[in-house]
Amino acid sequence: MIELLTRSDLVRDANLIGGRWLPSASGRTFAVANPANGDTLARIPDSHAADARAATDAAHAAFPAWRARLPRERAEILRCWHALIVANTEDLARLMSSEQGKPLAEARGEVAYGAGYVAWFADEAAHVHGDILPPQQRGKRMTAVKEPVGIVAAITPWNFPLAMIARKIAPALAAGCVVVAKPAEDTPLTALALALLAQEAGVPDGVLNVIAASRESGIEAVADWLEDSRVRKITFTGSTAVGKLLARDSARTLKKLSLELGGNAPFIVFEDADLSAAVDGVIAAKFRNGGQTCVCPNRVYVHASVYDRFASMLAERVGALKVAAAADPSAQIGPMINARAVEKIARHVDHAVERGAKVLTGGRRLSELGDNFYAPTVLVDASSDMLFCNEETFGPVAPLFSFDDEAEVIRTANDTPYGLAAYFYTQDMRRIERVSAALEAGVIGVNEGAVSSEAAPFGGIKESGYGREGSRYGLDDYLAIKYVCQGGLA
Ligand code: SIN
Repeated sequence: MIELLTRSDLVRDANLIGGRWLPSASGRTFAVANPANGDTLARIPDSHAADARAATDAAHAAFPAWRARLPRERAEILRCWHALIVANTEDLARLMSSEQGKPLAEARGEVAYGAGYVAWFADEAAHVHGDILPPQQRGKRMTAVKEPVGIVAAITPWNFPLAMIARKIAPALAAGCVVVAKPAEDTPLTALALALLAQEAGVPDGVLNVIAASRESGIEAVADWLEDSRVRKITFTGSTAVGKLLARDSARTLKKLSLELGGNAPFIVFEDADLSAAVDGVIAAKFRNGGQTCVCPNRVYVHASVYDRFASMLAERVGALKVAAAADPSAQIGPMINARAVEKIARHVDHAVERGAKVLTGGRRLSELGDNFYAPTVLVDASSDMLFCNEETFGPVAPLFSFDDEAEVIRTANDTPYGLAAYFYTQDMRRIERVSAALEAGVIGVNEGAVSSEAAPFGGIKESGYGREGSRYGLDDYLAIKYVCQGGLA
């Protein structure tokens, strides 16, 4: 699909540092592959500490002028970036599908979703207000002003190659921060294309710097940012294990952190739910991006009185999902990102089956399509000793657990170190209030499986992290409050 791009220059094979497109300092490269067939899409710079340092130097030089721009000037540039992203939707979607594997229709949706954050923060840029504080003594004036935190290092995941980086860069630039970014090794091409469009939109040299790296070199590059006291903030989306390492290692220079980490979302179907709406909800929440999102339900709890009916309705819909490479326009589920992902999914399903779960549909690798394909799966008779109760499966598998009462299911749903998303379906208004309050998660879907929006604060509690992305709250993470006390005014 990559050869079908209208603008072939969107496929970048260089880092963007200080406004220049550069090879890695070592000259080393690595291959980006299509997960559907393993074909190499491009060879791009394999960046190490020296490249990370060069990016930080460029950002450091660019910061004073960028923070001094009027907010509406920054907003104007973001608006222009948004327009360019939208104008290049088809190319960005094809590029993203090629490197990430998501079906083209979903990739187009992600371009709109990611562009939405850019438009949102273009508007927010001009609405950063401080406060004049109530005077406590005569002759003193006390104010609270908001300032950009400084250089932000954005480390982004492979599951949403466009939206996740857009929702970090856009608020950072809106707030007057400058950015050094490293996209995931599996999906750097979309990020580099976005960086080119940002440059075309008028983002000044050094304000946005993007370096690509393979897994091992990337660790070295990020370590340089963690050690560098000029980098004042890390924003990361990815696993809880890596988030904890970043929190530990950034402590030496005490950086501000936004961590959007793993989840283990429960999805509860109460006895009074509209079952067909709940099936739609599971399809939307669980099978989006082939089940590879942090907010995907990992555990589906269904009231015993509707369990069998719901299971067969869901299995019928899931069994009909079309699995194919993203290049096939009828694809609804693409390949998983890599062989490790498929192995984890298979391990979870096999472990569950060994402990008594039954497969209603799926439950196997689709080797006839390629190494990275796994069939959308519904399992019944799931129980708490199965792996998906403790680990994020990150694949198209819906295990159904049965429950008998509300208090019990809330206890079980909350019995996890994670707290990113939770969903429930019921038609009882009082229960909606009760259960929304009782569930321990940063994002709650009530009779709704599609919860993400640029207008909403996205983020978790417990070991799913901290900080919020999107909405007016999303800007706070990139701002520091300065209190100014002026005396001698009496
Ligand atoms: C994620 O999986 O990290 C983000 C999902 C979303 O934005 O909906």
